[in-house]
This record gives sequence, structure tokens and C-alpha cells, in this order.
Amino acid sequence: MRFPVSTPPAVPAGTLTTGPQPTLPAEGGLVLRPWADGDAPAVLAAYQDPEIRRWHTRRPASPEQVLQWFAHLRRSWQEETGASWAVTRDGAVVGRMVLGGFNLDDGEAGCAYWVVPAARGAGVASGALRAVSAWALGDGRLHRLWLDHSTGNVASCRVAVKAGFRLEGTKRSAAVHDDGRHDMHLHARVRGDA
Ligand SMILES: CC(C)(COP(=O)(O)OP(=O)(O)OC[C@H]1O[C@@H](n2cnc3c(N)ncnc32)[C@H](O)[C@@H]1OP(=O)(O)O)[C@@H](O)C(=O)NCCC(=O)NCCS
Repeated sequence: MRFPVSTPPAVPAGTLTTGPQPTLPAEGGLVLRPWADGDAPAVLAAYQDPEIRRWHTRRPASPEQVLQWFAHLRRSWQEETGASWAVTRDGAVVGRMVLGGFNLDDGEAGCAYWVVPAARGAGVASGALRAVSAWALGDGRLHRLWLDHSTGNVASCRVAVKAGFRLEGTKRSAAVHDDGRHDMHLHARVRGDA
């Protein structure tokens, strides 16, 4: 039950689920599309990469676990709690882009991403983040998108800035990684930002 509040929701319930999760084109021939079960091996392989394991704590251990995760992601779209896209080029999965933790009352969501090693350094993450932001702050009717990354993750900081996410500050000791707690940079992009 949604307890009565004094302000109308920024994104009325049901706004996002009037249609299927969209497929989004991005610069450089990228296509962001909902995950398909056939992507499970690519996702499993991505989570073997040391850099992805360094900055993400999820540890899928089998194709079956990835398929369960995909099912959870499909429910998240239906329940308006989040959305996750396979970032693809020429049909192959080159990355992942996520909008999570929807707060429809305030019109806010958080972003996360990774790119497979072979596709890095070519604008995939920043291009995909720009594409998902344009959709979320446009047709998605959200007002503010945020992301955080370890202060040690310089490449992720660069991705955020390149996609128009301004640095807002440092959340001290905010996230647990495999090697302990990290300070996290908070970035955000608000509707109307350049
Ligand atoms: C971070 C990551 C998503 C970047 O993906 P990508 O597609 O290579 O990103 P882009 O090509 O759009 O941009 C990367 C930028 O970071 C810069 N960069 C990369 N490594 C860097 C480093 N070690 N120090 C400083 N800048 C770095 C690149 O030069 C580029 O900036 P530029 O275009 O101004 O030169 C990718 O490296 C990755 O998946 N890493 C492991 C998982 C991860 O860190 N996820 C984010 C968690 S918050």
C-alpha cells in the first residue's frame, strides 16, 4: 500500500509499464535491449573478468543462476522497480546498463554499468549511459539519475562525467568491496542538465 503523501508522484504508477521495456539505439552502432536467455553464457563470462569482479560484488556461478537473475529483472520492469539492458554491438553483448532502485515519488533512479574487456576504451559505457539517460529523463519521465563509484575507479568517474553526471560529493566508507570499504563518489544528472 502506498501511504498518502502531500505531493503527487513524479512518475505515476503504471507510467513505465504501459509498454514493454524499450530497446534503445546508442552512438557507435550500439543497441541496448532487454536481456534474452541466450545471453546467459556472455554474462557468466563477463563476471569472470578481474576488473568486473573488482568493482562489482555479484558472483553468478552457473547459467541457471543467470537465468534466475534475468527472470528477476523482467519482474523488476513489471513492478517498476528497475530496468536492465544488454548493451550489444552487431548482436554481441559488449556490456550491461542498469537503472535500479526506482523512486517514483521523487522521480529518481540509480545507474550502474560494466563493459567486457575487449570492448573497453571505445566509448561504449559513456555512449550507453547517455542513451539510457536520454530515455529515462525523457519518455521515462524520471527527473534525476544518480550513480556512485569507488573513488579508486577512475575510469568509471570519467564515464560519469562524459555522460553528463556531475560530481556531487564523496560518500565516506559507503560501499563494501572484496578488499574492504570504499569511499564512493556520488554523481547525478538532472532533467534539463546539458
Ligand atoms: C569503467 C568501464 C565501464 C568503462 O567502460 P568503457 O566503455 O571503456 O568506457 P568509455 O570508453 O566510455 O570511457 C572510459 C574513459 O575512462 C578513461 N579511462 C579508462 N581507464 C582509465 C584509467 N585507469 N584512468 C583514467 N582514465 C581511464 C578512458 O580514457 C575514457 O575517457 P576518455 O574518453 O576521456 O579518454 C569499464 O572499464 C569496466 O567495465 N570496468 C570494470 C567494471 C566497472 O568498473 N564498472 C563500473 C563500476 S562503478
